[in-house]
Amino acid sequence: MRITAPDDFHVHLRQAPLLQGIVRDTAHVFERVLVMPNTDPPIVSAELLENYRAEIDAALASGQRLSTLMTFKLLSSLDPETLPALKEAGAVGGKLYPAGVTTNSEDGVRDVRSISPQLEMMQELGLVLEVHGESPNGFVLDREAEFLPDLEWIVTTFPSLRVVLEHVTSAAAVHALERMPERVGATITVHHLLITLDDVIGGKIRPHLFCKPVAKREADREELLAAVFGGSGRFFFGSDSAPHPVSEKEASCGCAGVYTAPVAMSVLAELFEDHGVPLSEDDRKETDATSLERFTSRDGAAFYGLERNTGILDLAEEEWVVPASYGTVVPFRAGKILRYKAKKEGGNEP
Ligand code: DOR
Ligand code: ZN
Repeated sequence: MRITAPDDFHVHLRQAPLLQGIVRDTAHVFERVLVMPNTDPPIVSAELLENYRAEIDAALASGQRLSTLMTFKLLSSLDPETLPALKEAGAVGGKLYPAGVTTNSEDGVRDVRSISPQLEMMQELGLVLEVHGESPNGFVLDREAEFLPDLEWIVTTFPSLRVVLEHVTSAAAVHALERMPERVGATITVHHLLITLDDVIGGKIRPHLFCKPVAKREADREELLAAVFGGSGRFFFGSDSAPHPVSEKEASCGCAGVYTAPVAMSVLAELFEDHGVPLSEDDRKETDATSLERFTSRDGAAFYGLERNTGILDLAEEEWVVPASYGTVVPFRAGKILRYKAKKEGGNEP
């Protein structure tokens, strides 16, 4: 089975020493990725952005290609006048992290109204706002729903700003999105389509399934599946692949993040097939609302106003066992047998 090479509109590529392995695993499958800026230090200037992109490029294996769509981190202290230079340096969007909500977000935004000047400038420049939509102080299962009024304030105050609610996990967020204008989209991860909080803490604790926002109830998962399979085009793929070394996951105070980059397309192929949804656009009948190819390789590009990728993803029907680890990182579905092997061929010029 062959489909257009996929985009991943939400990845954490990290920094040395993790960076090289992560970049290579990602480029094996994906042609283009939206790179998150929650590095240390964070990406808050054109120079930092250019240096980070150069580090990513240098980490590729010989012959590998990966198109990087860069983002910067929105801070209340970020001078709006630096945004044109960030755009010039290649930023396509700015990421809003509410303060303290997840990894490296202690410097995040305390009140969305405090970044009005930056949002105004982003709107003017046509930059996309990517939002970690959780209200940090609420009960953990309610944080996404509690952030929705802030999201609505942003959407109504900035009437031409394009906004992506990242890694949606709840029925409440899906329903809110459906009521918002078309310029508001959302990414959905692989793991939130497959697991609930029961998989994380319902039996023994599974630290490698712990992420933010946390996986929720079965009813929420079903809404996410319905959003993806409904084919509206507004819910597109962003993995939130977020590796941490095993020592920082299997710990008394462990980090949030699921490493899905090496398995995401194989797992998605099984999920779509198991739900009777075609993998390729060529195989899509009039009665099919969508395909895997649309979810991973068309809808996100269309939302961001980008050309489709030129490479191909080969999804070979070939069983393989997911390695127990990639370097120091334990991947999603470690040790499990998957039915499809995914490998990218060709792709955009760097
Ligand atoms: O689980 C997560 N891990 N969620 C995020 O929002 C950030 C990410 C990370 O950077 O580790
Ligand atoms: Zn993330």
